[in-house]
Amino acid sequence: MVLAVRGLCKAYGEVIVADQVELDLASGECLGVIGPNGAGKSSLFHLLTGTVAPDAGSIRLAGRELVGLPAHRRARLGIARAFQVPQPFAHLSVYENVLAAASFGAGQRGDAAAESALQALRRCGLDAQAERQAGTLPLLDRKRLEVAKGIAAAPQLLLLDEVAGGLTEREVQAMVALVHELKRAYAVIWIEHIVHALKAVAERVMVLHFGRKLLEDAPQAVMDSAVVREIYMGIPADAAA
Ligand SMILES: Nc1ncnc2c1ncn2[C@@H]1O[C@H](COP(=O)(O)OP(=O)(O)O)[C@@H](O)[C@H]1O
Ligand SMILES: [Mg+2]
Repeated sequence: MVLAVRGLCKAYGEVIVADQVELDLASGECLGVIGPNGAGKSSLFHLLTGTVAPDAGSIRLAGRELVGLPAHRRARLGIARAFQVPQPFAHLSVYENVLAAASFGAGQRGDAAAESALQALRRCGLDAQAERQAGTLPLLDRKRLEVAKGIAAAPQLLLLDEVAGGLTEREVQAMVALVHELKRAYAVIWIEHIVHALKAVAERVMVLHFGRKLLEDAPQAVMDSAVVREIYMGIPADAAA
C-alpha cells in the first residue's frame, strides 16, 4: 500500500476539516475526492503533505509514519502536490521551474535533476514550451506545469487539487488523458468538482462533507447515490428519486 491513513482528525476551533478519515491507496490507483466548498478537501492535502499537523491519526507512506515529519521530509519521501492555483515562478522558464522542483523537492542535483525535469516536461506534454517564460503560459499549460513540478520530485503519491478547474471541455479531456498516463506510475489522489473527469480515470471516488468521509465507491455508484445528490448538488434525497 502506498498510502494508509487511519483516524485522521483536524479541527480549527468549531470547523472540522478531518473527522476520523481513513484511506488506502496502492500504486496505479487513482482516488477521486469530491465534496462541497469547505468540506476539507484541500485540508486533507495539507495534512498529507505536512503543512498542517493533525489533532490525531496516522499517515503511512509505504509503511512509514509521516505524522510529525516536516513537509520537506515528506516531499523527499515521495509526496508531491499540484496546487489548486498554479504558482509558478513567472519570470523563470518552464524548464527552470521544473528543475527547481526536482532540485529542492526531490533533492536531486546536476544531470540527475536536469534529466528528471526533462522527463517530467515530456510526460506532461510541455517539452515544446520548455524555454518559454512560465508566466506567459495559457491556463491548461500552467496546470500541466503544476503537475510536471510535482512529478519532477519523483513522488510515490501525487496529489492533484482541482487541476481541471477552469479548463474548457477539450482541455479537461487533455488533463484526463494526462492523469490516466500518470497513474500508471504513481498513486494519485485527485480533488475535482468535474465529476465526469474523475469518472474517466478514478477507480474510486470518496465524498467529503464537514471533514467526514460519507461514501467511497466506484465513480458511477457515487454519482448515483442519493447522499451525493443531497449534499453535493444540493438536491434533497427524496426529490432525486
Ligand atoms: N488555517 C485555517 N484556519 C482556520 N480555518 C481554516 C484554515 N484552513 C481551512 N480552514 C477552513 O476549513 C474549511 C475547509 O477548508 P478547505 O479544506 O480549504 O475546503 P475545500 O478544499 O474542501 O473547499 C473551510 O471552512 C476553511 O475556511
Ligand atoms: Mg480546496
